[in-house]
Amino acid sequence: MSEDNELSYSAAIQEASTSISRFPLIPVKGIPLMSLIAINFDAISAFCPDSSDLLIATYPKAGTTWTQEIVDLLLHNGDAVACRRAPTLLRSPFLEIWSPPRIPSGLELLNKMAPPRIIKTHLPIQLVPTGFWENKCKTIYVARNAKDNMVSYYHFDRMNLTQPEPGPWEGYIHKFMRGELSWGSWYDHVKGYWEEREKRNILYIFYEDMKENPRREVERIMRYLDLSLSDDVIGRIVELTSFKAMKENPMANYTFIPKNVFDQSISDFMRKGEVGDWKNHFTLEQSAEFDEDYEKQMKQVNIPFRTEI
Ligand code: A3P
Repeated sequence: MSEDNELSYSAAIQEASTSISRFPLIPVKGIPLMSLIAINFDAISAFCPDSSDLLIATYPKAGTTWTQEIVDLLLHNGDAVACRRAPTLLRSPFLEIWSPPRIPSGLELLNKMAPPRIIKTHLPIQLVPTGFWENKCKTIYVARNAKDNMVSYYHFDRMNLTQPEPGPWEGYIHKFMRGELSWGSWYDHVKGYWEEREKRNILYIFYEDMKENPRREVERIMRYLDLSLSDDVIGRIVELTSFKAMKENPMANYTFIPKNVFDQSISDFMRKGEVGDWKNHFTLEQSAEFDEDYEKQMKQVNIPFRTEI
């Protein structure tokens, strides 16, 4: 991606500011998606990846950007300069994102890139274009505990002026529990990929594990990608992908997106990066109600989520 392309992408968003708004959600096969994604869903479904492409799938706010950065660095042998060639969004396009005219969609960006590409999606597994499975693309799924994931999503919805208004926190909890946020139910999302992980060779990793022992998880991803990097390079990747380093990295912290889309004066994209921040948001009563519902929604599976480390 040249500097010109980068500038033109950013400028396109600025210019299109009048057509950017908090898009309503429209269900696609029962999953609420931002209207432009829903309207263009046939084209998104028809996307056919190359077998060398890698998919990074997450429920929104589970650690997508962090994983994208780790993977890009692994594929570039820890070369920090190479990984500052462009913002995350242009290095690793967002499959289903669809914006107003003049701002390239995820598909347009992908179609201009040669494989192997690092492709981001928030689609639940049943909506992922079938070409990914037919071509046996590697897939990394990152999951984050429901409470921290929801807190992060709440603050993101405050600052991302293309997402529906989050409204008050109390009501947001219920929308999350009912699966009414963009990209649908967190519960179904994490279960869908979990149940298919062995059959479809999905590497299923946890945000909490990445926080607890980033080196171990970087090495896990490295092995999945069939790479073998030196200890020094792995150490460098761990440093370059720390919360602090990424918060300061203009190619990873989304400051590239203009304020009319991501208003980081409301909440930073790189907000806290912690496990357990939910304790600063949930009252005891809210937590008990959430836990009771969680037991019901997750009773068929035993996914080892941790709400503290
Ligand atoms: P918080 O809002 O809890 O801070 P996504 O990339 O899927 O949108 O996820 C964003 C969340 O991941 C945010 O969580 C962000 O701060 C956190 N994050 C991003 N990079 C991180 C890193 N290097 N280490 C820890 N957390 C990170």
